[in-house]
Amino acid sequence: MTEKKEQTKILFVTPEAVPFVHTGGLGEVASALPKSLNARKQQDVDCRVVLPLHGKVGEEFREKMEFLGDKSVPVSWRNQHLGVFRLEWEGVIYYFLDNEYYFRRDGLYGYGDDCERFTWFSKAVFEALEFMDFVPDIIHANDWQTALVPVYQYAVYRRTFTKTIFTIHNIEYQGRYGTNVLGDIVDLPYEHCHLVEYGGDVNLMKGAIECSDIVSTVSPTYAEELKRPEFSFGLDPIVRKNEGKLRGILNGIDTVSYNPSKDKAIPANYSWRKPEGKAVCKADLQESLGLPVRDVPVIAMITRMVAAKGMDLVVDSLDRVLNDMDVQFILLGTGDQKYEEFFRGLQHRHPDKAVCMIEFNVGVSRRIYAGADIFLMPSRSEACGLAQMISCRYGTVPIVRQTGGLADSIRDCRLGKGNGFVFADYSGEGLYHTVATAVGVYGNPKDWTALVDHDMKLNFGWKKAAQEYIRMYEELMGGKE
Ligand code: GLC
Repeated sequence: MTEKKEQTKILFVTPEAVPFVHTGGLGEVASALPKSLNARKQQDVDCRVVLPLHGKVGEEFREKMEFLGDKSVPVSWRNQHLGVFRLEWEGVIYYFLDNEYYFRRDGLYGYGDDCERFTWFSKAVFEALEFMDFVPDIIHANDWQTALVPVYQYAVYRRTFTKTIFTIHNIEYQGRYGTNVLGDIVDLPYEHCHLVEYGGDVNLMKGAIECSDIVSTVSPTYAEELKRPEFSFGLDPIVRKNEGKLRGILNGIDTVSYNPSKDKAIPANYSWRKPEGKAVCKADLQESLGLPVRDVPVIAMITRMVAAKGMDLVVDSLDRVLNDMDVQFILLGTGDQKYEEFFRGLQHRHPDKAVCMIEFNVGVSRRIYAGADIFLMPSRSEACGLAQMISCRYGTVPIVRQTGGLADSIRDCRLGKGNGFVFADYSGEGLYHTVATAVGVYGNPKDWTALVDHDMKLNFGWKKAAQEYIRMYEELMGGKE
């Protein structure tokens, strides 16, 4: 008889989580990973999540929260209020840290005082522990907003039995500020200030990489890429120095939420067993967007419009694609003004072929995943990317650039047993030719149907990733029984 192992307690620290507030992939991971960790048969971990109580968290959640207590948190020479709330949601306990001055705002990030807001949050995580009835073995922080958590553990709080993991979802955003924030906000003991100093600035992510016991990222290929200057926005020397503690685990997607046979946001449900509904979704999408309802490949993009997402390749080649090929193009997303303008122009230049919706709209995104044929993700770099996996699940074949998690999840079907189309060359030409290849395969209904069927059967769920996270946690706990 084996004795029941003690559960490893993980406190997952994140700036956002679905369904409360989110702006991107991190928010999806922050709810799906803890959920699948806690759902394991072995019940070997108890993972709880802590995040700021953003103004955007809806009343329907707030009214179910339990108030645990409050106190004040020092931010340099000031004291700022902290209220701690608890909410159990889909098998996971969430702690919301409340300070209205910092977080009762319309947006999540992008404010002049972000450094102070997330410094407060990172300290408040430790200060809130006394109300939680939960002593974490591992504090698992994510992205620059939580980067001071491992730094404070190492340099200030020094909780004896607590280990730290820092996961990089995007190394482009590092939390870089002038050194004036050292005394005024970050407030580390003098001898530890060097931990967050880098290249004449304060760099919070650099501090996290130095201070965490393990640094992970969200795909094996991105873990390798982070060591190279082309991908690391200046942090590659720090990543290489800490390479012994670097891990890469490919994300999964929430296959319960993203399920075309149950999804209530789409006009007809379908699955690989009964795929007919996909054609209904396509016709509905074309019609509702004012596109001719015809049997042509519908190519879609749902993206933040920033350079990292490969926008320059799209700008370079999409007019040619639309001039030369009988296809339709649908875009959903917001971002840099120059790209937004390009897409407005594109729609204007190809009124019966292109529809560009400059907005962030979760409901519409699901109708696009379901109604499109081809999903375009030509990213210059992509830590993991979730949309390529979601689109497979909805039978929409991805075209991706070979980088990060795109390279780890999509295999070119020209190589056999593939699930999409992959190009390596970062150029408009590369994109154009790969779209042409995909459109060619679409023209052969037998091959296309087989590809769509194959993609819909793939399993991109979190189970495998959760197992790898458990191995990482166990490694950190040193085989703790
Ligand atoms: C970031 C990355 C994206 C990744 C997501 C979740 O948004 O840019 O590639 O999928 O985080 O880890």
